[in-house]
Amino acid sequence: MPLIDPFARAISYLRVSVTDRCDLRCVYCMAEDMTFLPKAEILSLEELDRLCGAFIALGVERIRLTGGEPLVRKNVMQLVRALSARLGEGGLRELTLTSNGTQLAKYAEELARAGIRRINVSMDTLDPAAFASVTRWGKLDQVLDGIFAAKAAGIAIKINAVALKGVNEHEYDRMLAWCGEHGFDLCLIETMPMGDIGGDRTDQYLPLSRVQARLQEHWTLEPTDYRTGGPARYFNVRETGRRIGFITPMTHNFCESCNRVRLTCTGTLYMCLGQEDAADLRRPLRDAGTDDAGLHAAIRDAIARKPKGHDFVIGRREDGAASPRHMSVTGG
Ligand code: GTP
Ligand code: 5AD
Ligand code: SF4
Repeated sequence: MPLIDPFARAISYLRVSVTDRCDLRCVYCMAEDMTFLPKAEILSLEELDRLCGAFIALGVERIRLTGGEPLVRKNVMQLVRALSARLGEGGLRELTLTSNGTQLAKYAEELARAGIRRINVSMDTLDPAAFASVTRWGKLDQVLDGIFAAKAAGIAIKINAVALKGVNEHEYDRMLAWCGEHGFDLCLIETMPMGDIGGDRTDQYLPLSRVQARLQEHWTLEPTDYRTGGPARYFNVRETGRRIGFITPMTHNFCESCNRVRLTCTGTLYMCLGQEDAADLRRPLRDAGTDDAGLHAAIRDAIARKPKGHDFVIGRREDGAASPRHMSVTGG
């Protein structure tokens, strides 16, 4: 029996945040001074692999490793290799990563050798000064080196850029051209109100409907049915031969076709990015011994509680706005 939630959605996609830590502090994602999950509660890589194995047994077909920054987790390649060895096990057909790119130059070849075919890299701007400012201290060159190392290793790349008013709003034409030139897809994302970022995020928000209309003044965007199993709506860009995707949780909710759940590095399963309801899988994992029946039951119980969707609101809310959880705990 596949995993089916109360709204008849099949859950076939697992996002695993292997660490909530990151070597950057993007202004829309984290506060400068962060309290991370307690080290003592973090699952070992073997435990994460075993949990993934349980999800695969229950019908998960795609796994994405996220963070924080997944490549800052010590020995993360052990997990990548272990999961890669599971490709073809049950229905697992894709293992991917979302990365900030800072460590990619070091890991690109190893990732390719382990069977990673595509990666999403977060890069919100092509301007070094704006990049340093949005990440609080990041070096754009380091990320570009990582991106080109991954390309050279034969990994397909999608660039993720969060649309931010006053930060990158005049750059999308340039980024689209740059991605076209190098053979990358580009995905623009509406910022979601998750976690305390040490300030108000209302001023950052930019609706993508407006961005798309502006892009269409210079580019021919042709709707396509191309899907990655994720929330982006894609268009072929006639002039570049590549694609642009729009992820619009705020202006165009896509929850009704949701296929995913999220696991934290402490073994907590969040059934929705924008809701707090969660299930502890660490206990059933550690109690399981050699028999996974209890663990499978705990996963099925959790899926049976998956909420209908998020209720993100941009702007100040009486209850303090936003989801209290940072995006980095559940990896987006
Ligand atoms: P692919 O479609 O497989 O390429 O990946 P993806 O776009 O689903 O994953 P990625 O990690 O690149 O995430 C891009 C953006 O989409 C991030 O801002 C995520 O937070 C957001 N996102 C991914 N899944 C969901 C979802 O179910 N709900 C919402 N609201 N946002 C999501
Ligand atoms: N809203 C939208 N996207 C976000 N990301 C991180 N925080 C937010 C947010 N508050 C993006 C990152 C990365 C992906 C996993 O999520 O830029 O590309
Ligand atoms: Fe790190 Fe990604 Fe969050 Fe930036 S968006 S701070 S790179 S986890």
